[in-house]
Amino acid sequence: LDNGVARTPPMGWMSWERFECNTNCDTDPDNCISEKLLMQMADVMAAEGYRDAGYEYVAIDDCWLANERDKDGHLQPEPKRFPSGMKALADYMHDRGLKLGIYEDIGSKTCAGFPGSRGHMRDDANTFARWGVDMLKFDGCGGDVGLYEEGYPEMSRYLNETGRHIVYSCEWPMYESAQGGKPNYVKIAKYCNMFRDLGDIYDSWGSVLGMIDYFGDDPGNFTRVAGPGAWNDPDQVVIGNFGLSHDQERAQMALWAIMASPMLVSADFRKMPASSKAILLNKYVISINQDPLGVQGRRIKEMGKISAWTKPVLPTGSYAIVFLNAGTGGYPSKVTFTMADLGIERGKYSVMEVFEQTQIGSFAPNDSISCFVNPTGVYLMRATIL
Ligand code: GLA
Repeated sequence: LDNGVARTPPMGWMSWERFECNTNCDTDPDNCISEKLLMQMADVMAAEGYRDAGYEYVAIDDCWLANERDKDGHLQPEPKRFPSGMKALADYMHDRGLKLGIYEDIGSKTCAGFPGSRGHMRDDANTFARWGVDMLKFDGCGGDVGLYEEGYPEMSRYLNETGRHIVYSCEWPMYESAQGGKPNYVKIAKYCNMFRDLGDIYDSWGSVLGMIDYFGDDPGNFTRVAGPGAWNDPDQVVIGNFGLSHDQERAQMALWAIMASPMLVSADFRKMPASSKAILLNKYVISINQDPLGVQGRRIKEMGKISAWTKPVLPTGSYAIVFLNAGTGGYPSKVTFTMADLGIERGKYSVMEVFEQTQIGSFAPNDSISCFVNPTGVYLMRATIL
């Protein structure tokens, strides 16, 4: 979607995977979906380097709404959990150099059963703009293939008509495929800034690897439509939660970078383990994700349990390269390769391991290079053309 925003993959925080639909502020005041949660997250993002590393959007997911619209039919937040209202929350974010993301659904109810936008799309777009919202995640519960093909573009137009720059995040392809439809990715990329291809991510290696495999398989060749303003979305980054090992966290970070994926972290920034934080704030990995060329990387080779992925980056002729080891046992796998094996043969390259910034050396296309890839881990490199 060419609306001036999301020229690189959006980065930030999103409530869903970690905080789900926790509305129990009486018994769990620190973790329930509320303005307090968002404000605390924003404070940590500003104070601890997340914002400065590029994590900009603070995105509320489902369960922020009151059970009913107001007497004039407009959306309203649940008053006990959002006593200051959404305009004040947006201001709070803007005052700290952050942006507010919000959530709605194309059907008559959200997935968790709150009022949906069906029959109210124009009004809801105007409400979001009036509040100062900067991103809308538009879910697809309660819809059908016909509604997706009409309704997602319709909301896109209403958002555009508000004149406010709002990142438009669609779950269109995921719901359309789930209902046996065939997503028209060219059309989706025209109307949406980011779009979920597959079901929800969870805090487990199986879930993360499932997403990576789907992007590697690339059914319908959705990779081709990605670029500035339009990103395939493998869902939230779950680094810093309970389910991934250190190597698996690096693997999610590396692959989301290579896949030019939005980086919306769903974790508790207030309680982030130091090793997870270091991964999330690694500026060399982030720069691969945010590379201005905006090309989504592809899986180009599978060698047993090892797969190789490449992504063109600037300066022109350079690449990010990752080896992913999907094996779950034993010892680190030794991989020996040449740049030519990966289809990279324009010249001589200086190669660096990205997480530790270890310089590996300079290589011509047919020189051989070796590395070790941990089980359920990655080896991430940047090959800069000399
Ligand atoms: C769907 C979406 C999730 C999340 C929930 C909220 O499952 O795919 O990302 O937004 O709804 O209810």
